[in-house]
Amino acid sequence: MHAGQRQPRVISCERERSVTENYSINTKSRRITTEPYYLSSGNEIRLFEASYDARLPVMLKGPTGCGKTRFVEYMAYRLERPLITISCHEDLFASDLLGRYLLLQEETVWVDGPLTQAVRMGAICYLDEIVEARKDTTVVIHPLSDNRRILSIDKKGETLKAHSDFMLVISYNPGYQSVLKDLKQSTRQRFVAMPFAYPPLDNETQIVAHEGQINVNTAKRLVGFAHRIRNIREHGLAEGASTRLLIYAAQLMNRGIPEREACEMAICQPLTDDEKIQETLVELVADIFYDA
Ligand SMILES: Nc1ncnc2c1ncn2[C@@H]1O[C@H](COP(=O)(O)OP(=O)(O)OP(=O)(O)O)[C@@H](O)[C@H]1O
Ligand SMILES: [Mg+2]
Repeated sequence: MHAGQRQPRVISCERERSVTENYSINTKSRRITTEPYYLSSGNEIRLFEASYDARLPVMLKGPTGCGKTRFVEYMAYRLERPLITISCHEDLFASDLLGRYLLLQEETVWVDGPLTQAVRMGAICYLDEIVEARKDTTVVIHPLSDNRRILSIDKKGETLKAHSDFMLVISYNPGYQSVLKDLKQSTRQRFVAMPFAYPPLDNETQIVAHEGQINVNTAKRLVGFAHRIRNIREHGLAEGASTRLLIYAAQLMNRGIPEREACEMAICQPLTDDEKIQETLVELVADIFYDA
């Protein structure tokens, strides 16, 4: 790498895995080799499969921790496609996606970035939190996500036709977006979109019990707590408690942390710094785990 050149901050799917996951990824082929646990809440599997069949790019919209990443991992496994995940952030340049020339043993060699790799190998490329990426990345994505399906690598003077199995998936959380950061219509209208929400009560209970390895009754209480929080959201919380946080609480309980303490640490504290709301949340915990 040239002196002073920025290290691409690209995070592969391995970094995205949850602690309790029960599947593995072959880092070379990017194939998920054991089935990720995914509980479906509707016809999202069928919709995704139809989109893949038509090679349409897909946009997943929904709050943090509601299952978007897990869904993509599951679909990559189901469709038997490699998965390359890129977490977008404000320092992510097009070159981080495309690749760059590196100096290796006094020779300059081209190294494909993760998007180029995905386009060449026919992977599912998952761009997480796309709105965080810099503007120049949309220039790269546009010809790839319409019927041209091409990737222009200017630095290399190469135009790549996407592998016939390649699919682009992006996700974002509409709740966080400011007017400035909202996706442009010309980007939005290149994707079909699937709204994601927290799973329905019974499903979320099963998920929390499974992922947190706790009994269904306790999982039910945690989900009940989340529903109460989601109902008071308009009183100052930016977002409700995610399925992810419920699983964290369950994992602490599973390790012997008392229920109320686990809820405070895993749910109440991460959600807000506002002392008044914090008090309300702690009261809610006491109400639900009254016998703990
Ligand atoms: N339908 C589901 N089936 C199985 N597990 C689920 C499901 N939904 C959520 N989970 C669990 O919740 C955790 C959080 O979900 P995930 O990481 O997919 O959220 P996300 O929507 O990608 O969040 P973010 O927008 O913050 O990236 C997962 O690791 C998984 O344990
Ligand atoms: Mg995610």
